[in-house]
Amino acid sequence: MQDGYSATKIKALVKAQPKGHALLRGFYKDPDIYEAEMQTLFGRHWLFAGHVSQIPNIGNYILVEFDTESIIVTRTEATEFSAHMNVCRHRGSRICLEKSGHAKSFTCPYHAWAYDLRGNLIAAGQMEAGFDKTAYSLRAVQVENIHGFLLISLADAPLSLAPMKNALGDILPIFETENLQLAEMKSYEIEANWKLAVENYQECYHCAPAHKEFAQIHAMARDLPRFKALKSEYEKTMPSGGIMSEKNGYFDLAEPGAEGFQYGRNPLLEGCQTGSKDGTPLAPFLGRIEAYTGGASELMLGPFMYFLIYDDHMVGYRFRPTAIDRCVCDIYWFVRDSARAGQDYDLEPLTWLWDVTTEADKTIIRRNQAGVNSRYYKPGPLSQMEHFQQSFLNWYLAALGR
Ligand code: FES
Ligand SMILES: [Fe+2]
Repeated sequence: MQDGYSATKIKALVKAQPKGHALLRGFYKDPDIYEAEMQTLFGRHWLFAGHVSQIPNIGNYILVEFDTESIIVTRTEATEFSAHMNVCRHRGSRICLEKSGHAKSFTCPYHAWAYDLRGNLIAAGQMEAGFDKTAYSLRAVQVENIHGFLLISLADAPLSLAPMKNALGDILPIFETENLQLAEMKSYEIEANWKLAVENYQECYHCAPAHKEFAQIHAMARDLPRFKALKSEYEKTMPSGGIMSEKNGYFDLAEPGAEGFQYGRNPLLEGCQTGSKDGTPLAPFLGRIEAYTGGASELMLGPFMYFLIYDDHMVGYRFRPTAIDRCVCDIYWFVRDSARAGQDYDLEPLTWLWDVTTEADKTIIRRNQAGVNSRYYKPGPLSQMEHFQQSFLNWYLAALGR
């Protein structure tokens, strides 16, 4: 990347940030901050591209888009994937225009340079004799498949995924996350800086007042002492280890040079088996689950991708900026691969909880941005129910100040 930003200004803002408080206005409004975030956070950390079931056959591809970037992620072999910048090596046109599809090769719509699935330039008509096609491959992007989750990194030297793989190696097989299928995906456009959306996702201080549907299912919406009591009761009913293992390599707890991750399981309220309107089952059990456990797992893969794993379905939440004051929250609903729509599950009840919850979040996040836009906005102190958000902010400030 060539675009610069004032590192001195950023360091000064990081220094001015009051500890334990919401972020200063500049973090949401300053174009230098935004540029630094795109380069040092989104350009450095692993991003969720999608699930292997979204590109089941050789030649299937999906685009991952954030800010000014577009990345083509392709299945090149039965178990191999490649990822490339969607930027033509001739004069820079976007090559692939559809968000997903199937291709034998990618032909740029401008002057018809063509690239194979691995990003090699294979045709460039009417170029001078001696033109070396091998020097004009698409810019490669790292891609990794972790139990069905496809992660990409734009970094030249990506953060290590080894601690994440080790920590989750005995957990993800419980849910057989590679044997899921995408039942539905919706993109929610939010008129707010991406951090306001991520911060909102990370705290449940707002859950009781803002999400009556969520609060009737998840113990997490209760005040902290009540939640802790419910969690310790839940832990007594469940054998330790396995599904209950806590894995904390998130944000400021990540090893230096490694990507952050987190896993833990929390109770649902009594009588609730899953995230449905009346707490009753929605779909066939995931993986090796054989009975409802009265809980749901939280999984974090990198700083911008979160999953909630119920016993019978999994919901994914991906945050991506589109501009300094706009972002998208992509919500994914996964069920086990053998489940049949209309017979084993229905989309409306499956998607109900996180559709109403995300619509409500859109509104509160937009109002939050409106207030932060004010010249009279002053950051207030965070509560103990915002401790996960606080970890994110500590990590964010350290990463930006580096
Ligand atoms: S910009 Fe792609 S072929 Fe010219
Ligand atoms: Fe919310």
